[in-house]
Amino acid sequence: MTQLHFNDSTYQCEANETVLDALARQGVAIPFSCRNGVCQTCMMQSADANVPSAAQNGLKSTLQAQNYFLACVCHPSEDMTVSLADNTDRLLSATVTAIRQLNDEVKCVGLDCPMLQDYRAGQFINLYRDSGIARSYSLASVPTDSYLRLHVRRLPDGRVSNWIHDELKVGDSVQISAPVGSCFYLPNAPQQPLLLIGTGSGLAPLMGIVRDALDQQHAGDIYLYHGSHDAAGLYLVDELREMAAHCSNFHYIPCISGADVPVQYQAGRALDVALAAHPNLAGWRVFLCGNPNMVKTARKKAYLAKAAMNDIYADAFLVAGVA
Ligand SMILES: Cc1cc2nc3c(=O)[nH]c(=O)nc-3n(C[C@H](O)[C@H](O)[C@H](O)COP(=O)(O)OP(=O)(O)OC[C@H]3O[C@@H](n4cnc5c(N)ncnc54)[C@H](O)[C@@H]3O)c2cc1C
Ligand code: FES
Repeated sequence: MTQLHFNDSTYQCEANETVLDALARQGVAIPFSCRNGVCQTCMMQSADANVPSAAQNGLKSTLQAQNYFLACVCHPSEDMTVSLADNTDRLLSATVTAIRQLNDEVKCVGLDCPMLQDYRAGQFINLYRDSGIARSYSLASVPTDSYLRLHVRRLPDGRVSNWIHDELKVGDSVQISAPVGSCFYLPNAPQQPLLLIGTGSGLAPLMGIVRDALDQQHAGDIYLYHGSHDAAGLYLVDELREMAAHCSNFHYIPCISGADVPVQYQAGRALDVALAAHPNLAGWRVFLCGNPNMVKTARKKAYLAKAAMNDIYADAFLVAGVA
């Protein structure tokens, strides 16, 4: 057992506990979202350089050097004196410029953030409902767009997604983090075929990545498989069909796993349909986004289909209560 010194009090941390869990168990609420070391909302700082290196994975080297760490994946090896990360100079103000219903469950939220010029389509930001609660949303826009675009799916009883759907309106000011994540397009191999597979609002980063690749004159084939249980769960179908009609190397395949499959849709789960059409992924770059179980299975199957591990990019939309 180790001790955590936080805000002039001392808390016990059991051997199998993370800093986040130990503090939460003893009534100290630290903001968190994914609980998997992905979103960075639970960032804290240690007064000493005794941070386990696993708790700093994915943080910028400047943050690592200042002993910042992710509380949800930090298993202390010795006593630590910790504080909440001071986000005040890192959060960015944004204004809601547009809200559009994409289907029954998904809204597109447009955010104007003049301080944010430099990002990669497909990265994600953390959107703060207030100082204690934030959630990650992927960027469906490309940097040349006039505003950031998010696709937010409403989850039953979800605290942030329901607030976005029911309360957020054009003109509101919100706080967001700088974009993070490595699921984005790089123009280093313009002939390489790209395979993108997503479910639900997993289309958000994939939409950004496809647009970015096309903007950067990607010459290889780009296949986008978007899956849902029924046709109502898909969205931007007409826009994507239109894009495919105009770009000969872009192929869009909407997939339906339920029984009722209208014409012009493929029957089956997006992952199964994609792998049946492309059983050999040697030399391909693969992007997987959305439901965490789909992403985990797809990563394994893509690797077994001979995609190189470092050619597989993934964003699992981990949900706080379910992680
Ligand atoms: C890298 C990344 C990118 C993401 N990108 C997107 C995106 O582009 N679009 C998008 O829509 N989402 C995205 N997400 C998911 C998003 O961050 C949120 O997790 C999602 O919107 C739900 O947040 P919420 O506050 O509405 O739900 P929460 O309040 O966190 O609850 C989530 C669900 O868990 C249930 N729940 C809550 N607590 C418990 C509990 N204790 N036990 C059991 N169940 C519980 C709730 O009923 C609800 O259904 C992304 C996640 C990650 C990690
Ligand atoms: S990184 Fe800790 S909650 Fe997401």
